[in-house]
Amino acid sequence: MSHHEATHSSGKRDFLGFTGLDAGKIIELFDYSLHIKRNREQNRNSDEFRPIRHKTVAMIFSKPSLRTRVSFELGVYELGGHAISLEGKAIGVGERESVEDIARLLSRYNDAIVARLHEHSIIETLASHADIPVINALTDLSHPCQVLADAFTLYEKGLWHDGIKVVFVGDGNNVANSWIELAGILPFNFVLTCPPGYMPDEQLLQQARSRAKGTIEIVHDPYQAVKDADVLYTDVWTSMGQEEESAERLRVFKEYQINSALLAEAKASAVVMHCMPAHRGQEISAEVMDGPQSIIIDEAENRLHVQKALMVKLMNHDEYRKFHLTHRLMRAANSLKS
Ligand code: CP
Ligand code: NVA
Repeated sequence: MSHHEATHSSGKRDFLGFTGLDAGKIIELFDYSLHIKRNREQNRNSDEFRPIRHKTVAMIFSKPSLRTRVSFELGVYELGGHAISLEGKAIGVGERESVEDIARLLSRYNDAIVARLHEHSIIETLASHADIPVINALTDLSHPCQVLADAFTLYEKGLWHDGIKVVFVGDGNNVANSWIELAGILPFNFVLTCPPGYMPDEQLLQQARSRAKGTIEIVHDPYQAVKDADVLYTDVWTSMGQEEESAERLRVFKEYQINSALLAEAKASAVVMHCMPAHRGQEISAEVMDGPQSIIIDEAENRLHVQKALMVKLMNHDEYRKFHLTHRLMRAANSLKS
C-alpha cells in the first residue's frame, strides 16, 4: 500500500497522503498557502493570478461533503479553472465501469481528479491509471487535505513548534490516521486517545513510528492523554459508512468527549480543533465547540487556501517554483540588509 505524493512514470504528481513529502516541502506548502490566503484577503491579483486558467478538475464524491466540495470547487474557480462535480453513485465507480477506465477517460478530458471514496485501494488504482494528478479528498483510510489544513492553521497562528503536543480524542479513524502519517514527517508529539478496539491503521502507525522525529503514542485514558496538551482535536464517533454501528459507538465513546472538564487538564493556552461536521453533545460539548479556545471555523476556512496551494503545486509546478524562488531571494536580500 502506498499513501504518498507519488510521482508517476509520466512525471505527474498525486496527493494521496503525506508519505513522499518531507518537512521542508510541507513548510513550503504552508508558506505558499499563507501567500494565497493573504492575496485573497487583500483582493490582490484577482484578475491576473489565474494559474490554472482553462484547466478543469473532475471531482468524484462517493460520500457526502460540505467543506471539501465547496472549498475545492471555489478554489478551482478562484485559480481560473473549472470544476465538474460527479456523484460516485451516478457514475458507478467500479460498478457501472471500472476504476481503471474512469481514470483513463478523465485523463483525456480533465487536468486533475479530486476524489472522495470508500476503500483507499480505489484511489490508488485511480492514481496509478490516470495521467493527471489525483488528490485524496477522504477515503476510509485517510483525509490528508484535512490534516494539511489543520497543521497549517496552527502554523499560521504561530502555534506550531517542534515538540508541540497534539492530542486526538476519539476514534482511530481516517483523520487520526492522517495525523499519524504527518507525525512521521513533522517533528511533533502526537497522542491518540481512543477506546481499545478503535485503534488506527496498524501499518500506517508502524511506518510513521519508524520515521518519527517526535513521538506517537496511543493512550486509552483520555484524562491522562490530554495532560499538558497544546491542541485537543476531535472528529465524529461514527464516520460516513459506519452508520449501522452508531448506537454501539455512542456507548463506547461516551468518555471521549472534549468538554470543559477534559479541556481543563490540557495547558491553559490549549486550542480546540475539529474537522467538522460536529455533533455537539457527542464528541464535543457545545460550550467548548463555541468557546474561546475553539479555532474550528478558522481550520475549516483554511481548507480553501491550503487546497488552492496544493492544486497550484500539482497542476502548475512552474508557478509554484517561481513563488519559492522569489520568496528565497527576498529573504536573502532582507538578511543582507539587516
Ligand atoms: N471536514 C470535511 O472534510 O468536511 P466535509 O465532509 O463536509 O467535506
Ligand atoms: N471521520 C469522518 C470525517 C468527516 C470529514 C468521516 O469519515 O465521516
